[in-house]
Amino acid sequence: MRDELKDLERRKAEALAGGGEERLRAQRARGKLSARERLDLLLDPGSFLELDMLVTHRASDFGLADQRIPGDGVVTGLGEVSGRPVYVFSQDFSVFGGSLSEAHAEKICKVMDLALRNGAPVIGLNDSGGARIQEGVVSLGGYAEIFLRNTLLSGVVPQLSAILGPCAGGAVYSPAITDFVFMVRGTSHMFVTGPSVVKTVTHEDVTLDELGGADTHAARSGVAHVVADGEPELLRSVRDLLSFLPLNNREDPPAGSGRDPSGRRDDALRDIVPASPNRPYDMKRVIAAVADDGELFEIHARFAPNLLVGFARLAGRPVGVVANQPAVLAGVLDIDASIKGARFIRFCDAFNIPLVTFVDVPGFLPGTAQEFGGIIRHGAKLLYAYCEATVPKLTVITRKAYGGAYDVMSSKHVRGDLNFAWPTAEIAVMGPDAAVEIVHKRELAELSGAERAGLARQRAEEYRQRFANPYVAAERGYVDAVIDPRDTRPELIRGLRALANKRDANPPRKHGNIPL
Ligand code: HXC
Repeated sequence: MRDELKDLERRKAEALAGGGEERLRAQRARGKLSARERLDLLLDPGSFLELDMLVTHRASDFGLADQRIPGDGVVTGLGEVSGRPVYVFSQDFSVFGGSLSEAHAEKICKVMDLALRNGAPVIGLNDSGGARIQEGVVSLGGYAEIFLRNTLLSGVVPQLSAILGPCAGGAVYSPAITDFVFMVRGTSHMFVTGPSVVKTVTHEDVTLDELGGADTHAARSGVAHVVADGEPELLRSVRDLLSFLPLNNREDPPAGSGRDPSGRRDDALRDIVPASPNRPYDMKRVIAAVADDGELFEIHARFAPNLLVGFARLAGRPVGVVANQPAVLAGVLDIDASIKGARFIRFCDAFNIPLVTFVDVPGFLPGTAQEFGGIIRHGAKLLYAYCEATVPKLTVITRKAYGGAYDVMSSKHVRGDLNFAWPTAEIAVMGPDAAVEIVHKRELAELSGAERAGLARQRAEEYRQRFANPYVAAERGYVDAVIDPRDTRPELIRGLRALANKRDANPPRKHGNIPL
């Protein structure tokens, strides 16, 4: 037996050594952790159960035949995060550049299949040179097997992708299908084609970072949902995000005790909306005043910041927050904001996370750039996502809810369950000034100068009195209650409790046809 055990230890040591000390040193020199160090930081200590440690590749030519490294460039298995199960894979760049072979793909597919069968999240730590060149189409097939599973797992178990090195070519489409992409500044890069191909095809000069770095994908493309300054911070963020999520679509999100008192009121909310309707204010202050301990785990913080989305807790229960941000572009809805909001809402709906929407929106952004870019198609995504969602939906209109954006933003008409408004709410087809210019066009055309301006002001004030308030909507029941702003937290918590057993369903169908 002793000899057999020694043999086992030798094999394991070989696997643990990965691509060898020199390649690990190169990895560290770049500021990157090893595949196993990453798992140590991600998972609860001692919880990792490794699978397929001794799997090797099967390639027989192009010089790889005699280079078999146990594990074949990816560490896979199951573990725990805060005592809850997760399935993981961590690509090892020190072994053939973390490239994906047939065997490497099979290891990833195995943990994905287990995650599906056992209803637990999949977390992928990506650091790879892409398809293993020596294996050709077999490796491409391996990617396709992963893409298929990403799609089948979508909406069943949460899938989180951390990009911790290169992720290029078709390989980007696996993270892209998953629910959340995390990137680290400086060392992670994602692109379909790298800078040299870009140069050849389009003659553009672009650096690796500009093309596919974390900041690009956080602020411009929207590919990255969360960005961190180093790997430890990134892996902590992954753990934090998981704390809001259920393990699968049949569970409710994990409810804690919530030490922040449910009845906590905040007088400052009474003064947060400026007297002038065109002055901005920071909706994050409203969210901080309402959420447990003032905390919001923001998603897509730098992409379309005119709409805020993220996770918070109310009396210990996770909620998805969607909020217009009047401090950026007056909180207008544009193409990026619509896409950002729609995807977040659909995630929350798939995973039983109630939605709390704060509304202060002047409408959809006008202009040729938006119209030519397809604001009609993209705005429809946000509308569709709200209409389709059957989780509890609570809405607070703090100020403007104008035009189509009123309908879109979780209105009563699209199955909002509890719709509150502050006394400062203005719910109308459009703002007073624009409305007066249309409705009183002829009357105003007969005047000029100060007389015209005076009449316009008077008519705008009449309009404001008549329409730009919450009471027309409240008389109809479109708003369930006009609330004192300082009571927003207790009212939302009361509402969430009342909606905890909500049952609602959409008509049976294969799937809807969201305007993609
Ligand atoms: C096999 C690979 C590899 C690959 C890297 N290596 N990529 N081996 N297949 N795809 C190996 C290298 O030979 C080297 O081995 C080690 O990994 C480290 O690579 P280096 O080039 O030395 O590292 P670095 O300078 O950091 O450059 C990293 C890199 C570069 C930018 C990722 O290696 C690279 O450009 N690789 C190819 C990327 C690529 O085009 N992949 C295909 C994308 S298309 P040694 O033994 O010297 O340490 C794709 C299709 C997906 O993936 C299909 C979906 C439909």
